[in-house]
Amino acid sequence: MGKILVTGACGFIGWKVCEKLLERGEEVLGVDDLNDYYDVRLKNWRLEKLRKNKNFLFVKFDISKKEIRYIVKEAKPDIIINLAARAGVRASIENPDIYYQTNVIGNLNLLECAKEFGIKKFIYSSSSSLYAGCKIPFSEDLPVNEPISPYAASKKAGEITCFTYHYLYGIDIVIFRYFTVYGPAGRPDMSIFKFIKLIDEEKEITVYGDGTQSRDFTYIDDIAEGTISGLNLSGFHIINLGSSFPHSLNEVIKIIEEKLNKKAKIVYAPFPKTDLKITYADITKAKKLLNWEPKTKIEEGIEKTILWYIENKHWLKYIMLKD
Ligand SMILES: NC(=O)c1ccc[n+]([C@@H]2O[C@H](COP(=O)([O-])OP(=O)(O)OC[C@H]3O[C@@H](n4cnc5c(N)ncnc54)[C@H](O)[C@@H]3O)[C@@H](O)[C@H]2O)c1
Repeated sequence: MGKILVTGACGFIGWKVCEKLLERGEEVLGVDDLNDYYDVRLKNWRLEKLRKNKNFLFVKFDISKKEIRYIVKEAKPDIIINLAARAGVRASIENPDIYYQTNVIGNLNLLECAKEFGIKKFIYSSSSSLYAGCKIPFSEDLPVNEPISPYAASKKAGEITCFTYHYLYGIDIVIFRYFTVYGPAGRPDMSIFKFIKLIDEEKEITVYGDGTQSRDFTYIDDIAEGTISGLNLSGFHIINLGSSFPHSLNEVIKIIEEKLNKKAKIVYAPFPKTDLKITYADITKAKKLLNWEPKTKIEEGIEKTILWYIENKHWLKYIMLKD
């Protein structure tokens, strides 16, 4: 495939994509600014795993800075996979500026690099949160013009900019709309990570709304494999990657309770205006274009996540969770 630049390499999805590319013998340059949106120890843990592979090189850098072009110029990648982002929906209300800096300007900087240095393949990570207000299951041809959070708006802007660069410069671009990703070494601002840790520690968990809201929880390995298979496509595509099997938060809590053999102490809080009641991916396009199907069912995925948690509990006990 040539050299691959993966931004957000120390993030949850970026790390797994790098890991799978390295397993295939690819040469990977990882870029990440290691910001403290969530506990950096988790990002460093992922980075240390990647650093064990001699085909992995890492540069700590912020993609929203124009100087990213010097790194790209020097590294001469053949492909850019942009997984660097500010990714929390609720936090985007407090700090919309940072979201636009990374998700819009940062992505623009990378597209400019692709144009300037003749990089012909580009992957952009978008989100199911764009489907607010749409009928389920969410298919890619639905109009998504009413984002209900700064995060979703920034992702929409990123998508649109990608199209412009495909149109003007013939760059092959695949935009993936990911649906609630979970798994080992996941994000401490997301429900499954938080629930496992807090239920195990016999602390209270907060459920926004009544817990009947559903998410199309998708296992990390399935997401990483789908993302990499996007490198075989040419042209411009927007593709959902989701399990296409929504589960409510109440169901997820029940599975975790059973597997940990502990009872959750639930505190209820108002349902946020920025959240969707349900996410549910139509994955016809991913099946057709990528021959991709999610392989991991929720019970198995949660089991693997809990096993990782138990194995790493000695340091995870110090990890700060985030709302
Ligand atoms: N995890 C999910 O459920 C999910 C769902 C939908 C979409 N996504 C999208 O997938 C992508 C990856 O998400 P994730 O879950 O791995 O999030 P993450 O926060 O774990 O990873 C993002 C990484 O990008 C890095 N980063 C942020 N701003 C940067 C900048 N300016 N320069 C360089 N690095 C920067 C962060 O330090 C982090 O390591 C994001 O685009 C996110 O919006 C994720």
